[in-house]
Amino acid sequence: MKLDESYVKKYFKSKGNVSKWWDPESITLNWFKTLLSDQENILREISPKGRIILDAGTGRGRFASNFTLAGAKRVIALDLSEEMIKIAREKAENFGMGNKVEFVQGDIENLNFKNEIFDVTCCMESFVHLPNPQIAMNELARVTKPGGLIISNVTSNKILWRVRYRYFPKGFEGIWKAMPERKFRTLFRNANLKIVKVIRQGPMYSPVFIIVIGVKPEPESVQSQ
Ligand SMILES: C[S@@+](CC[C@H](N)C(=O)[O-])C[C@H]1O[C@@H](n2cnc3c(N)ncnc32)[C@H](O)[C@@H]1O
Repeated sequence: MKLDESYVKKYFKSKGNVSKWWDPESITLNWFKTLLSDQENILREISPKGRIILDAGTGRGRFASNFTLAGAKRVIALDLSEEMIKIAREKAENFGMGNKVEFVQGDIENLNFKNEIFDVTCCMESFVHLPNPQIAMNELARVTKPGGLIISNVTSNKILWRVRYRYFPKGFEGIWKAMPERKFRTLFRNANLKIVKVIRQGPMYSPVFIIVIGVKPEPESVQSQ
């Protein structure tokens, strides 16, 4: 069943909700450790130096800060939650990067940017919260330059994990939905993105997080496909 759009958007826009449980850099649970390793994985994959990058669903801004520190030309950090943007902005200011990251309140499913302006579009740990994931992927593809990268991830809904999700703390119902890897890859393909890499994290027989990197083909390669 699809996430209820008005419920989930209201949840993330309201103060004191996502900020209560999303702080991967301060929590030392095993799951969060895997998420922290993403920061290195992604820096390695995209080489931010000199690039214009969108961090969509920035949360506390961990990726946006890293991109800036790694020499990105410009970073735009977007989130639906004003509260998370405030937290992320304060963090950037504390690290002396306040004027290097631009913070924007907005919705991944309806981006207020012109077409084809970002070299890299990153959207981590957010697809599970999107009621219209194909619309979101189309938006990420739209704002990415031809030849640019889209990097994102999803939480697997394989049976083993579905059992474990039952033991999540109360309050996650209705704002979170895991997805099969196959479906996540289809979102990329339907948005005319070419998948160039898949990174599976967790046990080999049943990975829990799936990172997919796609490239937006140059116009001539779309025609010849
Ligand atoms: C689990 S956090 C992940 C944050 C960050 N990407 C990271 O990996 O640390 C998900 C973030 O997505 C934001 N979010 C949820 N729905 C959104 C939407 N439709 N548009 C923009 N941001 C959204 C939430 O407010 C939250 O900050």
